[in-house]
Formats: sequence, structure tokens, C-alpha cells
Amino acid sequence: MAADTTLTALGRKSEPLAAGLPQTPQMLNHLAYVTPDAEKTVEFYTQVLGLEFVLAVIDDKVPSTGEPFPYFHIFFRLGDGSTIAFFEAPGLPPRAPTPHPAYEIFDHLALQVDSREAVDAWHARLTGLGLSVVGPVDHKIIYSVYFYDPINDIRLEITTPLAADWNDRGDAAQLALADWSETKRQAAASGADTQEALLALIASRDHGAKAQPTDEVL
Ligand SMILES: [Fe+2]
Repeated sequence: MAADTTLTALGRKSEPLAAGLPQTPQMLNHLAYVTPDAEKTVEFYTQVLGLEFVLAVIDDKVPSTGEPFPYFHIFFRLGDGSTIAFFEAPGLPPRAPTPHPAYEIFDHLALQVDSREAVDAWHARLTGLGLSVVGPVDHKIIYSVYFYDPINDIRLEITTPLAADWNDRGDAAQLALADWSETKRQAAASGADTQEALLALIASRDHGAKAQPTDEVL
């Protein structure tokens, strides 16, 4: 399937979007979460994970929107210069529980190291510190351990690529997306159960197209 260059969600019917692109984003600058405790978060990300605490910002309102939410905003730097950030804001109620446990599994943050041995070393360190660690899991294209940031209940992954092209399989990804989207459209058009139709698609890909890399990574 050719790449779909329309943004139907924005009401742009078939206008090509590739022309006039500014520089495409080059790296992750920061990913930000709300935290209930900045001090404990600093302790975890520096002492347990070894990241550098590189920036703190305090303000009485959100600069981008002007919302009157006072906050303390902290950043931890990874090896490539990207950062993980948190906001602590006084008076926030606890985050609402997720409506299904899958959200707590699927929403996660994966951090890369250079080798399988390094992932194994993280497994030993984290379990030695008393954290509950899942894995190591060999996904064939990446190798990972999973655990939770206990302060913020964020599922974390430490991973290393096993295949040099793990993030360069766009043609297969487009085909998978076409299958997924077309299955949903056909189910909706025929009045079939969308969930059952997608489960049938997944089963057919398991049997007929094993080792699709996009099927195997979590
Ligand atoms: Fe992952």
C-alpha cells in the first residue's frame, strides 16, 4: 500500500503533506510525566538508574498555556542528550486508576543500553535492589528487562537491539497497518464484531506471517 499522505482527521481530504516539511525531529528532547514526589524521583533516577539530574525549573504558571499551576520541573539526561522530565505540582490529587491493566503494561518507557550483557547486568542490579523485574525477554530483534519506577508507577524497560535494522522496517509496518485498518473498516461496514475480526487477523498473521517484527515487541 502506498503511504497515505492525507490527514482525514484534520479534514484534509487528499492534500499531499510531504512538500514544505521543516527539519524532521532528530531526537527525543524530553518526555515528561507528573510525579507525586520530586525528591524521591531524583533519588530513583540518579541513584538507581544512574542518570544525571541536569535541570530544575520552578514557576507559578505553565509558560506554554498560562495555566495557573505552580510546579517544580526536573530533568534527567541520558547518554545521547535526550532527557526524562517530571513535574511536581502542589495539591494535585492522585492520578486516576487506569480502566484496564493493559494500560499499565502497554504504556512504558524503554531505555537503551549497548549490549545483551548490559541488560543482564541491569537485571542483576535491579533485582539486587529488591525491585521486581520481568525478563530478560529475547524478542529476537531486541532484548529487554521490565520493571516499575516505584515512585511514579511508570513501567520501564531496559533494552538493547539484536537486529541492526530493528527500527528500519517501514515497508512491513505499512503493510501491517493496512491489514489492521482494513480489518476494522470491513468489520464496521459489515456489522461484524471489530474485536473478533482483529483477533482473527492476529491469529492469521501468527500462522501465516510469523516473525513480523512489529508483532513481537512490547
Ligand atoms: Fe517496549
